[in-house]
Amino acid sequence: MRRPERTTVAATKADGGMERTLAILKPDAVARGICGEIISLIERAEFSITALRLLRLTREQAAQFYAVHAHRPFYGSLCQYMSSGPVVVAVLQADRAIERWRQLMGATDPAKAAAGSIRQRFGLDVERNAVHGSDGLETAQREIGFFFSALDLLAL
Ligand code: RTP
Ligand code: MG
Repeated sequence: MRRPERTTVAATKADGGMERTLAILKPDAVARGICGEIISLIERAEFSITALRLLRLTREQAAQFYAVHAHRPFYGSLCQYMSSGPVVVAVLQADRAIERWRQLMGATDPAKAAAGSIRQRFGLDVERNAVHGSDGLETAQREIGFFFSALDLLAL
């Protein structure tokens, strides 16, 4: 049997100008059983899901993933929270995927998130805000590589 074609993680800009971003359905979303609803919104927004995994971060892994926030007052609490239960990690591919996924997520604080956005609909507070999204091309590349190897990514 022929192996499916795979892409390299390094190619954050996928073929055809398509972009990839990392999405995380955070512990509060998994615990409340709303992953299906969130994934539905992702599919309806016409992202292609090219990798998907359920896992639980250790506190050390959460600290490494969010190392960029190490100096922020909420860092300790964020690492505790992100390792408090399972998360779903996914790679979303689309034209302008990074910006479009952040728009669909809404502002960090659910109270300030646009009507209809995921955080406005499902976020509990500024920390337990249901979802994560990469904030730029380099971040997306690093974050996708944190969870997935090149062999894990579907080539579309
Ligand atoms: P994310 O990285 O998770 O997609 O969220 P973001 O870009 O909208 O926000 P960012 O500033 O990168 O913060 C990362 C996560 O830290 C938690 N947070 N808590 N207590 C607070 O004031 C506070 N601020 C941020 C949130 O879980 C946020 O998503
Ligand atoms: Mg961020």
